[in-house]
Amino acid sequence: MMLLPKQSRMTMAGITVACSLFLVACSPKETVQLNLIPLPAQFTVADGFFKADSAAVFSTEKPANVHFVVDKSLGGNPEGYQLTVNDKGIDLKAATETGLFYGEQTLRQLFTPQGFPYVSIQDEPRLKYRGLHLDVSRHFFPKEEVFKLLDVMSFYKLNNLHFHLTDAGGWRIQMDKYPKLTTETAFRTESDWRKWWDGKDRKYLPEGTPGAYGGYYTKDDIREIVAYAASKHINVIPEIEFPGHSEEVLFAYPELSCSGQLYKNGDFCIGNPKSFTFMEDVLDEVIELFPSEYIHAGGDEAGKGAWKTCSKCQALMKKNGMKSVDELQSYMIHKAEEHLISKGRKLIGWDEILEGGLAPEATVMSWRGESGGIKSARMGHDVVMTPGNYMYLDFYQADPKTQPYAIGGYTPIKKVYSYNPVPVDSLTAEESKHIIGVQANTWTEYITNEKHLEYMMFPRALAVAEIGWTPQEKREWNDFKPRMNAHISKLQQMGINTFTLSDELEVTMSVDTVKKQIEVFLDAEKYPAEIRYTTDGTVPTASSALYDGVIVVKDSAYVKAAIFRNGQLQGAPTEKKVDYHRAINKSIHYNSKLYPGYMAGGMNALIDGYRGGLTYLDGRWQGYLNDLDCVIDMEEVTDIHKVSARFMQLIGPGVYQPASVELLTSEDGTNFTSQGIIPTTISNKDADLSFQEYLFQGDWKARYVRLKADEANKGFIFVDEIVVW
Ligand code: ACM
Repeated sequence: MMLLPKQSRMTMAGITVACSLFLVACSPKETVQLNLIPLPAQFTVADGFFKADSAAVFSTEKPANVHFVVDKSLGGNPEGYQLTVNDKGIDLKAATETGLFYGEQTLRQLFTPQGFPYVSIQDEPRLKYRGLHLDVSRHFFPKEEVFKLLDVMSFYKLNNLHFHLTDAGGWRIQMDKYPKLTTETAFRTESDWRKWWDGKDRKYLPEGTPGAYGGYYTKDDIREIVAYAASKHINVIPEIEFPGHSEEVLFAYPELSCSGQLYKNGDFCIGNPKSFTFMEDVLDEVIELFPSEYIHAGGDEAGKGAWKTCSKCQALMKKNGMKSVDELQSYMIHKAEEHLISKGRKLIGWDEILEGGLAPEATVMSWRGESGGIKSARMGHDVVMTPGNYMYLDFYQADPKTQPYAIGGYTPIKKVYSYNPVPVDSLTAEESKHIIGVQANTWTEYITNEKHLEYMMFPRALAVAEIGWTPQEKREWNDFKPRMNAHISKLQQMGINTFTLSDELEVTMSVDTVKKQIEVFLDAEKYPAEIRYTTDGTVPTASSALYDGVIVVKDSAYVKAAIFRNGQLQGAPTEKKVDYHRAINKSIHYNSKLYPGYMAGGMNALIDGYRGGLTYLDGRWQGYLNDLDCVIDMEEVTDIHKVSARFMQLIGPGVYQPASVELLTSEDGTNFTSQGIIPTTISNKDADLSFQEYLFQGDWKARYVRLKADEANKGFIFVDEIVVW
């Protein structure tokens, strides 16, 4: 916790009086002082500290004026607690042991060298499910790492670990009835996913092969993990993948695949009754190890291709009158659910389990956006929201240029924090009750070791913790930011190799077509941050303009901005070209096809003044699956000197530079003259995120400005703005 200078503590005392009079949660100033994550539902702060030895407070032999009490008669939310610290001591009450545990975590976070600050807290979670998912298949993490994560999760009141134990990367849990799962497919030739999977050099190796990469948890390891988690009030949900993502199973037991051949299929053969014997046997052993009410049966990304030509699968479809292979997937998940229910458990699965008919009582994890979750909630099914664009911690958290290789995407902590798992515009209050929680997922294809895992998870997981716990109306980025910064050192004290936040700045714009100007806003993850900037493209120095909340651009600016600490520029400056250019507010038409999913700001996205950022998913980049050919109407014949357009490349998801970009102009809209063709300078093999600006300069008289970009790679092309001067 930060020690406040005397003066600001006096300010705080003044506010405290106002707060406690009205019994409302206090102002951000006090929140900064408390540095609690997640922020409690209700709290007030008073001036002063109760001095006590923290070791004694958290021991079983507490000082006389410290009371921790479980009182069932308190009722209310079973995870809630009441905490009072004043000159008389510490009074912590809860209706359950779990509530008491969470109160204790709050106290741990409150402790400072001066003692425990005087507070009165009434707390309970917003959502009952607050989860982190961990993929131990693509990379195996020893149980000690899992214990460490459980410690940190409990400190932030996260209560579910979704343990992704099986997938093509390797089977990770000992099974008595199917020993080959671990003796044959828990180890592989290569640790590096880019070589092993992407490079199609995929081979499993028997356990004990010298140099083999992998591992698995014995049943005793699992019992230890589950018991340790329970001691931290965390439930562990095992995930066993059906019917897809099962390459490793089908290597160990090829008779469960449609082809019967090694390294050929990823989905179980649904027409083979042995697949169901396997599923039930495995689930039985899993149930015995995990007390979790929910058992995750996967369900995501089944290829389904082999089912179309497999005689057994086709016979099953015919027998049951199934019209599509989706119904085969649904058939297996229904069977999994029936089995789990017969054992007193519940099935949870990825949102693909909606396809072909949702199992009657299934709970759905919505990962492909929110639509699966919304649909499920409307059908009366419980939902955990975990949409990729917000909740995937394997995505980049800063500019990929500065980061270890990741799967793609871009979810900096501010984006994560902005997520509200209850889509209030799409669901009624009654339907919203089915949104039981939120979860962040850490897939580990490109995460190679424990340090790297922690780096991707933290501090973003702290944003997830607050989303799940704190009332939505009390969450605010500017309030979270200083607390999150203060927790970086707490994470480090817990031995976590956290990302220490970016020196990059977030740049947002507001285009004002009445005042004919663009307001530019800068934001830093780091706090406090002295931000200085220039608008002429030069590198800012310690004497450049100090950012004071907005930069107003009336014509053309090349903003470069950076954080300064002790007069030194931190990291690399953040750059943004900003133009209130002459095509803004004009009209555009397209000779080529638009792609409905990537319309960005709509029909006028290319001439709306808004530039895109580092991801083509930020709503500013317009994407096309074909050539782009568009014409801007300047409304009258105009002197034009400069036209530019910027394209992005990120070949992982199939986004390429155009082969070339051509500018044409016309006075009448019929006869166009080419003013030049600029080829790309970026190789279509270059896997790094890159941008190219195609700039045409000249002296033209034209009413119509036409831009043609030539898609040459059977992928997408993306452009954010056509700038006309
Ligand atoms: C997933 O990301 N395949 C659930």
